[in-house]
Amino acid sequence: MKVLLVGGAGREHAIAAAFARSGHEPRLYCLSDLTNPGIKGIVKKSGGEYYLGNINDPEGVIKAAKKSGADFVFVGPEEPNFHGVPDRLEDGGIPCIGANRAVSELEMSKASMRDLQWKYKIPGRLWYKKFKTFEEAVPYIEEYADSVALKPARQAGGKGVKVIEDFQVYLQEDKRKVKKEHAESIVREYMKGYDDIDYKLLIEERVWGPEYTVHCFTDGSTVVPMPAVQDNKHAFDGDLGLETGGMGSISCGMNLRWGVDDGRAILTDEEYLKSVEIVRMMIDAIQTETGEKYHGVVAGQMMLTSVWGPTVIEMYSRLGDPEAGNVLSVLKSDIVDICEAIIGERLNTIKAEFEDKAVVVKAVCPEGYPNRRDIASGHPVKIKGNGDGILWASADIKDERVFSGGSRVVECLGVGESVPEASRRAEKLTEKVSLEDGWKLFHRRDIGSEKSLERRIALANMAREIYQYRERRGLLGKRMIWIPGKGLVEVG
Ligand code: GLY
Repeated sequence: MKVLLVGGAGREHAIAAAFARSGHEPRLYCLSDLTNPGIKGIVKKSGGEYYLGNINDPEGVIKAAKKSGADFVFVGPEEPNFHGVPDRLEDGGIPCIGANRAVSELEMSKASMRDLQWKYKIPGRLWYKKFKTFEEAVPYIEEYADSVALKPARQAGGKGVKVIEDFQVYLQEDKRKVKKEHAESIVREYMKGYDDIDYKLLIEERVWGPEYTVHCFTDGSTVVPMPAVQDNKHAFDGDLGLETGGMGSISCGMNLRWGVDDGRAILTDEEYLKSVEIVRMMIDAIQTETGEKYHGVVAGQMMLTSVWGPTVIEMYSRLGDPEAGNVLSVLKSDIVDICEAIIGERLNTIKAEFEDKAVVVKAVCPEGYPNRRDIASGHPVKIKGNGDGILWASADIKDERVFSGGSRVVECLGVGESVPEASRRAEKLTEKVSLEDGWKLFHRRDIGSEKSLERRIALANMAREIYQYRERRGLLGKRMIWIPGKGLVEVG
């Protein structure tokens, strides 16, 4: 059996490691724009080949698939989906684990995703407005005074999202100005070069609560959920600093518990099951809308809000990164069996099982990340020991040395009986990573610590108390906004 993996970051190293554990002993090939040392090692050991090329070019990917003789292709990141790579492979008779262009709209367009959620009345929907130009947004920003999240309407690697709290009357004029300035920069800067989408700007109601991700394998009919994961976006301890692609993530079995034997949870069983149901409804809706089947991984990037409980913030048409390390490292079932069941549309006939263990992943980044990738890249990287438990991420082999690529250079993975125990193991691994030229690395020490979990649980409990109150009074999801001169108005 031969498999071609598309992509070369930490997520793809986690996918490659899952294939390396398969009883089918597949020969693994990889196509990526960088040479990831971890994936390269697995590819070599399996007898496959590593190709360098543009992963977003459908013709290039099918060429690599044919050259390798792959039985199927596993697409890691989202951009190849948006560029129609899975469609081209299927047209060429090569099965693919990856959302095709039509269904990956769930992730690519945040406006389409919300349209769908409202059209099909899927719970966990936020009130929103979408705009094609900045000028269209101005009258709206002028009229409505409220706390909002301003977002690029296309998936743009998580960049450009800004939440603006707008509670004080005496600051309203200033806040309007900030909203307008940021809305303009989203349309003119963050969305520059994205000509594949009509709507450029999304303005959503601002919500608060702990965030988490629920991934599922799907063949379009059956949904196989994976353990819930919580990603930590901010660069520094205590959720300070700029938002990144994810500084590390925690998971603990199917819900997000404090410790295996402790009842307290960021996410209860009921909330987890509701979240899975929301993801399933989203897949059904996009399939009904497009008439196309979803084959691959889908994820709800959710928040436990005071408005709805489980609420969709955005959708992924792939595994999250670093979240992939959490879910795949405890996957007990054979990934090849799962992929074959997806391709044959018989996912209902197999059981995908996960170990009930806590996993903590900590990303290690060169200083400069996330906003100065120019200075974060090009540093020689060294790992002490055999590298077990360390996923290579933004790293590239050049002249037989490994250099940082400017983003998260490695992801250290700890597994344990509780989240804090897994966190301590991941922390130990971070000590093995250094840059040979003395450039500094940083990571978050607090991810998965007792203190950080206490904070997350306190936040979850606050949101939980309010959404359950709303639920009892039939107010779930109802939104009241204050319009100057009109007072409180119910919308949505
Ligand atoms: N961890 C965030 C993402 O994968 O987009």
